[in-house]
Amino acid sequence: MKAKAVIEAAGVSLRYPDGTLALNNIDLQIQQGELAFVTGPSGSGKTSLLKLLLGMEYPTSGYVEVLGQDMNLTQASAIRKLRRRIGPVFQEFKLLKGRTVLENVILGQRFLDVPQTQMKENSLDALKKVGLEHKALSLVENLSWGEHQRVAIARAVARKPLLILADEPTGNLDKENALKILDLLASFKDNKTSVLITTHATHLMKSEYTNMIIKIDQGALEWERIG
Ligand SMILES: Nc1ncnc2c1ncn2[C@@H]1O[C@H](COP(=O)(O)OP(=O)(O)OP(=O)(O)O)[C@@H](O)[C@H]1O
Ligand SMILES: [Mg+2]
Repeated sequence: MKAKAVIEAAGVSLRYPDGTLALNNIDLQIQQGELAFVTGPSGSGKTSLLKLLLGMEYPTSGYVEVLGQDMNLTQASAIRKLRRRIGPVFQEFKLLKGRTVLENVILGQRFLDVPQTQMKENSLDALKKVGLEHKALSLVENLSWGEHQRVAIARAVARKPLLILADEPTGNLDKENALKILDLLASFKDNKTSVLITTHATHLMKSEYTNMIIKIDQGALEWERIG
């Protein structure tokens, strides 16, 4: 059976209102169950690519489809529906201070059509997967940075997404903890779930779980399948 395309982009450019061309005529296809690393220098367009896939930015030209949803001319309601299937791990989606770890993970599911008891169950399950079940009742401000990242991942995966988008999830972590985070994210890849991770840390990419490397340089994108 032919694998389903989770992401399809053809001839896509993204120009910000100030004229910056963040993505320049890119083509990309990612299939269900793939794990791709997006690498490239600072300012090359990695975050812009993820924002495009989340419907936070719109293509200036070209065609993008995410999980079967056409991202051009898309209505807000369709974008909201699409986002329910995506687990984002972005620096700007910070955890809420003054709330517990468990509350934060539950809040990540608030727009899903899931009963409260199920949300709690999904959350505890996700916290177990990231090894933080024992911190469920801790306030997020009392966590280490690495734990903070793991809670952000738990919040994303508790949504049971078909696509995990992680933007620099290893930033500010030492090598050992960065590897743990990448191993953890990779563990969520299965034949239904695809994972896209941006990283500067190319030396941490491991071929045993990556099957695709996407390189961006000044908005131009190249990709190759490996392994
Ligand atoms: N909202 C915006 N308005 C104008 N320009 C922007 C905006 N967001 C990003 N840019 C510019 O678009 C280009 C790509 O930025 P982007 O954030 O995608 O890079 P990046 O590869 O994620 O960089 P980093 O590794 O530093 O996170 C940069 O030149 C950046 O300054
Ligand atoms: Mg970035």
